[in-house]
Amino acid sequence: MISATCVAPVNIALIKYWGKRNEDLILPVNDSISMTLNTNEMCAKTTISASEKFERNRMWLNGDEVDFEENVRLMRCLKGVQNLVLANGISKVPLSWKLHIASRNNFPTAAGLASSAAGYACLVFTLARLYGLPHNEELTTIARQGSGSACRSLYGGFVHWHRGVLENGSDSVAVPVVPAQHWPNMHVLILVVNDARKKTSSTLGMQRAVTTSTLLQQRVTDVVPHRTKKLIDAINTRNFTEFAEITMRESNQFHAIALDTFPPCIYMNDVSHAIVNFVHSYNEAAGTILTAYTFDAGPNACLYVLEEHVPKLLASINEAFPNDIAQSVEYLQGIPMTTPSPVSG
Ligand code: DP6
Repeated sequence: MISATCVAPVNIALIKYWGKRNEDLILPVNDSISMTLNTNEMCAKTTISASEKFERNRMWLNGDEVDFEENVRLMRCLKGVQNLVLANGISKVPLSWKLHIASRNNFPTAAGLASSAAGYACLVFTLARLYGLPHNEELTTIARQGSGSACRSLYGGFVHWHRGVLENGSDSVAVPVVPAQHWPNMHVLILVVNDARKKTSSTLGMQRAVTTSTLLQQRVTDVVPHRTKKLIDAINTRNFTEFAEITMRESNQFHAIALDTFPPCIYMNDVSHAIVNFVHSYNEAAGTILTAYTFDAGPNACLYVLEEHVPKLLASINEAFPNDIAQSVEYLQGIPMTTPSPVSG
């Protein structure tokens, strides 16, 4: 038996991916940009063992067995990596050997905390490691077919997923913008408002948005290309106020499109809206932008803040939300962000 164990980090989108132009290949309607978090705090950990004695491929997610062979996305990732192995002509493990895969997240699954991103990135990275493939751009096109946002978790730092133009998706790849060390005092505070499973999955929510939202098309053609460029400039120059404004506007537009979807997708709750108001009041009182929020397809908030401003922000959160949020500040992390990596054991 041969095994590999790896961890992969969560990434949080600054420019949101929302909408596919090809459902099977998971090709997005727009570019997106994300920041990868530190694997010590939030990550997926996957062990894959291959043996000639295993009779079929099996997988356990957080201890529960899932129907691996029946799951189109999981099988696509496995086939994608195995095709790369065939093309490379080298393999540490015979492709005929069946696999046993065990994966765990150290944070709530499917609560809008990017669990599928870390999970699929980890699956693809661990498969590549098991078969002896190098880490390269092609792996991002495979992880993308597990869950779109997963392609961005294959790199640390700030990452750009290009929508691409080719029909076969080979140019819809994730590439690093800058490594984590470029902006070492950038921190993220995750406020866990609710860790229940979300009502409308991202997959379904974005499918509905593509067919029913009239705002989405304008976002794709007029807004995202311009914002993507401006955000990359802000990251390159470490311009926090510009970074923060784009990030908050993006979050707001994404949720506006979710509401413009019919029937609407409502991901934020009253506490989420109170956090938005809190952030704007906090920045107004400071006379400058010291923190920015973003919300994915769930009520939980990610706040961006520079390290030197973390203590004051935390104190204000505790004061503003004495009963609920304060106790829910579960993750505070700095970034040295990490790429997926093999672990021992
Ligand atoms: C709101 O990657 O989970 O987090 O490709 O259908 O699996 P599928 O969707 P998924 O969507 C993530 C949506 C988002 C924004 C983002 O991460 O860019």
